[in-house]
Amino acid sequence: MTKGVLARYRDFLPVTSATPIITIGEGDTPFIRSSTLEKELGCGELYFKLEGCNPTGSFKDRGMVVAVAKAMEAGSKAIICASTGNTSASASAFAARFGLTSVVIVPKGNVALGKMAQAITQGARIIVIDGNFDQALDIVRALVEKHPVAMVNSINPNRIEGQKSAAFEIVDTLGDAPDYLFIPVGNAGNITAYWKGFREYYQAGISKKKPKMMGFEAEGSAAIVRGEVIKQPETLATAIRIGNPASWGRAVAARDESCGVIGSVTDDEIIAAYKLLAAKEGVFCEPASAASVAGLIKMIKGGMDVSDKIIACVITGNGLKDPDTALSIAVSPAESPADINAVEGFLGWD
Ligand code: F0G
Repeated sequence: MTKGVLARYRDFLPVTSATPIITIGEGDTPFIRSSTLEKELGCGELYFKLEGCNPTGSFKDRGMVVAVAKAMEAGSKAIICASTGNTSASASAFAARFGLTSVVIVPKGNVALGKMAQAITQGARIIVIDGNFDQALDIVRALVEKHPVAMVNSINPNRIEGQKSAAFEIVDTLGDAPDYLFIPVGNAGNITAYWKGFREYYQAGISKKKPKMMGFEAEGSAAIVRGEVIKQPETLATAIRIGNPASWGRAVAARDESCGVIGSVTDDEIIAAYKLLAAKEGVFCEPASAASVAGLIKMIKGGMDVSDKIIACVITGNGLKDPDTALSIAVSPAESPADINAVEGFLGWD
């Protein structure tokens, strides 16, 4: 049976004798070595952490399991989040499984189809606001001041605690931390969590080094890079369409303490990386997830030499979440009569 994050890493988590050790099967995701891009880009070793293989299709399940367990421990009957989609998919799955009510506030028109389908089918109470993620989060912050409901956004420290388990898994698999960790940045909770995880394993003597943290925002939403709140963030990578990251300061600390970088990538760079991952590695991720690899490509083009470095890219979510984007950039398949000769004709196999 899958152990889950709480059971596997309980010594590093805020688990007490009263904490329910729940799981939906999160964590223990594949960490695979690149077959093609490693050589083409000139990396020493290049790995992908496939977080889209979590039960609800993104890394959110790692943090949600801790946030929900602690909410249950405290007697909460309801959880609430603002979301660009994945947090709501995860929160509603845990709520459905453990008998809680879930309320999710999402921005109108900017949540990928699969994520909405998950939250709806899993029975969340969904409010679609005529505004963006940052406004949704402001509303959630205000609601939890007034109502007895547990907030499960990543400003809840238990989310960060759970998400740091992905850094533990990378070290457990590699035997040490990588030299570089490339990761998309939206609300900046995940880069915060990975950095915490790498630091804790280093302090415990389990790893001998810590990686440089390389976070990438989408250019139209690159608040940290620009150093100012973006009132109307834009990007086709809707998961990271965030103009006022909640963990801004901690992302900057992760960058500075690790001698890393927080940069930005354009939508064109994101889509190029998204296509490369699918076509050259067989990794179908959602657009936001490709920001990690887009960032790596940009840095290498800019002259960064990683020929003797070990690099891990976090692939945060599954491509099936966002079929609309996939199909909008794809060439339509050939349509043929149901006849072998016609099919051979299309294939050029006559
Ligand atoms: N990748 C994916 C697939 C995401 O869903 C998110 C965030 C990120 C990257 C960025 O992570 O916010 O910790 O910097 N999604 C949140 C949500 C905001 O509501 O699902 P971050």
